[in-house]
Amino acid sequence: VTIPDAFYVPAGPECDAIGAAWRAGLPVMLAGPTGCGKTRLVHHMAAVLGRPMVTVTCHDDLTSSDLVGRFLVAGGDVRWVDGPLTTAVRTGALCYLDEVAEARRDTLAVLHSLLDDRRALYLERTGETITAPPGFMLIASYNPSSRSILKELKPSFRQRFVTIALDYLPPEAEAEVVRHEAGVDTAVAERLVRAATALRQAETSGVKEVPSTRVLVVAARLVAEQLPESLAVDIGLLNPLSSTGPVGDAMQELLRAAGLGAAGIQAHG
Ligand SMILES: Nc1ncnc2c1ncn2[C@@H]1O[C@H](COP(=O)(O)OP(=O)(O)O)[C@@H](O)[C@H]1O
Ligand SMILES: [Mg+2]
Repeated sequence: VTIPDAFYVPAGPECDAIGAAWRAGLPVMLAGPTGCGKTRLVHHMAAVLGRPMVTVTCHDDLTSSDLVGRFLVAGGDVRWVDGPLTTAVRTGALCYLDEVAEARRDTLAVLHSLLDDRRALYLERTGETITAPPGFMLIASYNPSSRSILKELKPSFRQRFVTIALDYLPPEAEAEVVRHEAGVDTAVAERLVRAATALRQAETSGVKEVPSTRVLVVAARLVAEQLPESLAVDIGLLNPLSSTGPVGDAMQELLRAAGLGAAGIQAHG
């Protein structure tokens, strides 16, 4: 299978680690904050390993039938339709379970037999057991900083995964990502990354939500469309973060100090 490669700047040895886990038939958990490149990494690894990728975005209402499939009635016929997990197992794909901590425990239970040496999916409704081919791999992601008691993954689930901790890239590498993704010049990319770094370092002083690489890329794309940098930063980077009031003001101040932000879009809106 040839999959178009996705541009990915590694933070460390994560690509080698995922490759080794894939060859060993082990599932992988990517732990990291939103917008740090988890999804992009899986796209990249699908291309590197030459496997298709199946993505499931997990949420509260996701059921095990949504994952494995169900019987559907069509024109008087009843036929079985594979869900995305079953399709991924049959085709030897990389199955990416995004935000796995959002799924309910009873939904995740269907994964257990795939996560150990059996590497098998049991379809209760049809009685079929499908053994995963060597190409198949489960990759899940979750954001450790957004976890709550309600959304905590069970240790018995977590401990079945090889776990790779990811974070925002070091400034130089992140600027390279912003430059590449938005097509801005290096100076713009570096200014945006400097501003983000300042905000991230202020996290302890009441700033709860920090800018991700994703919002940096968004702001840079607006700059690439000729929007003034201060406005692009306000609407692309700062306003999407939840901080309002004094914390929001302090963040504005930090951005001003970095030579960005404070275009006053909020005052107009
Ligand atoms: N290491 C990286 N290499 C290339 N692009 C990256 C990287 N990290 C972040 N990005 C950029 O940031 C965006 C958000 O990354 P994404 O993989 O969707 O984050 P996550 O899945 O962790 O929330 C990507 O679309 C890409 O433009
Ligand atoms: Mg993602």
